[in-house]
Amino acid sequence: MKIAISGKGGVGKTTIMALLASQFKNQGKEVLIIDADPSPHMAQTLGIKDIDKIKPIADMTELLVERSGKVQGSPFYQINPQVDDLLQKFMIEQDGIRLMVLGAIQTAEGGCACPENTVLKRMLTKLLLSPTQVVLLDMEAGVEHLGRGTIAGVDHLLIVVIPSKSSVRTALKIKKLAVDSGIPKLSFVGNLVQDGDDVNFLQESLGETPIAFFPDSVVIRKAERNGKPLTELAGQMSEAAEKIVNFLQGEM
Ligand SMILES: Nc1ncnc2c1ncn2[C@@H]1O[C@H](COP(=O)(O)OP(=O)(O)O)[C@@H](O)[C@H]1O
Ligand SMILES: [Mg+2]
Repeated sequence: MKIAISGKGGVGKTTIMALLASQFKNQGKEVLIIDADPSPHMAQTLGIKDIDKIKPIADMTELLVERSGKVQGSPFYQINPQVDDLLQKFMIEQDGIRLMVLGAIQTAEGGCACPENTVLKRMLTKLLLSPTQVVLLDMEAGVEHLGRGTIAGVDHLLIVVIPSKSSVRTALKIKKLAVDSGIPKLSFVGNLVQDGDDVNFLQESLGETPIAFFPDSVVIRKAERNGKPLTELAGQMSEAAEKIVNFLQGEM
């Protein structure tokens, strides 16, 4: 199953993806996270130290992706075995979770990360997964990437939303674009939710109930400040993550 996450900047996409990754792993899945944010920080969130060693997917030749075929026995990719070693070079592993980073090119000036996006698009559409494999795609904020059709191969889009008007506005815009671009399934996920008022606000302004609500968490804030991996958190955060994972698995 391929799952992407979207939402306004800073709403908690990367945090929630890390929590979902560890939940999927605990349920026996093989997890690959693809960090497709032009300012990638999933590695930090997972507590990966050797960030410099990560080779961006953008360096992968188009040929590599084109050579993918229906060959069994390779992790995540039913790809030609001759190139499988090569593919491993683009992954870094920590606590049983694999990570790939899309690109090193920064696009702060509005430039197009076109080569990376082409590679990503091919990977997502050509990747054939077994039922025990999960790909989690952490994306850049906002709506622009949806227009590029980068997430064409994704099965389910999670839209993270916090109880603020601007976050809801972005979430609804993303929903519309995702529906228009043919994403088969999408769900809202609430974050930084403190009380019943926040829950009601989200339900009413979105016109539907998010599938889970993550509370505003002191533990998350401290973990982020101390560079601690989010993969070991328990309590309310993992409760919400478990809810999402069970929901998504119910669809498989
Ligand atoms: N539920 C939460 N409770 C407390 N802090 C959170 C929570 N979710 C996210 N954060 C913090 O908010 C900041 C932005 O989160 P991040 O996941 O990087 O957002 P995004 O990926 O959407 O830009 C980070 O410092 C993160 O630690
Ligand atoms: Mg992020």
